[in-house]
Amino acid sequence: MTPTEHQRRAYLEALGIDVWVPRDEADPVADLVDDDSAPEAMDWPQLRETVRSCTRCRLHESRTQTVFGVGSYDADWMIIGEAPGAEEDRRGEPFVGRAGKLLDQMLRAVGQQRDSVFIANILKCRPPNNRDPKPDEAAQCRGYLERQIELVKPKIILAVGRIAAQTLLGTDAPVGQLRGTLHYLGKTPLVVTYHPAYLLRSPTQKRKAWDDLCLASRVVAEAAA
Ligand code: URA
Repeated sequence: MTPTEHQRRAYLEALGIDVWVPRDEADPVADLVDDDSAPEAMDWPQLRETVRSCTRCRLHESRTQTVFGVGSYDADWMIIGEAPGAEEDRRGEPFVGRAGKLLDQMLRAVGQQRDSVFIANILKCRPPNNRDPKPDEAAQCRGYLERQIELVKPKIILAVGRIAAQTLLGTDAPVGQLRGTLHYLGKTPLVVTYHPAYLLRSPTQKRKAWDDLCLASRVVAEAAA
């Protein structure tokens, strides 16, 4: 669904902005899965259980629980963030804090709900003190995310924030450079936008995030046409 002018206004208003009037075998997703406990052939219950008991990196020592991901296994939209924070670690669900509330609003503005999309993170475990994921942690966790992407087969991936965008796309480029154009992860279209936690700190960037959501919506609409 391409957002209408009405939805655009509702989005801007909900976010407190003044409204001024005038896949296949060559898929790199599969190539990244490379060891014995590779999730590449797992179904959802196997994958969920493997993640739940994962000890591949040190983060299992400090986590309360893993945060697998939430939403529809059949989603058109897959939202990928960075890593669980304190609240997510406590509740076992991604994006449930303040940033999560904003993410929910952003999704609603393009006609999506938490349970119509699939939401996951680069890491399934919380890094202590919310530090950035280390490259080896992201690498150990990547196979799980890749399998989730394969299983959901989203029409669009929305990478929210620097860590998600850079990790997925394998680049050091800043979000400001990566957003605004369409990328691909294998054959899956991918749009980069700002992390909702950043948007809470920098509300003037919400307009750009809206443009990114519109781009993502157009991609989904075109895939359905
Ligand atoms: N930030 C993220 O990137 N992911 C979460 O799950 C929560 C906050």
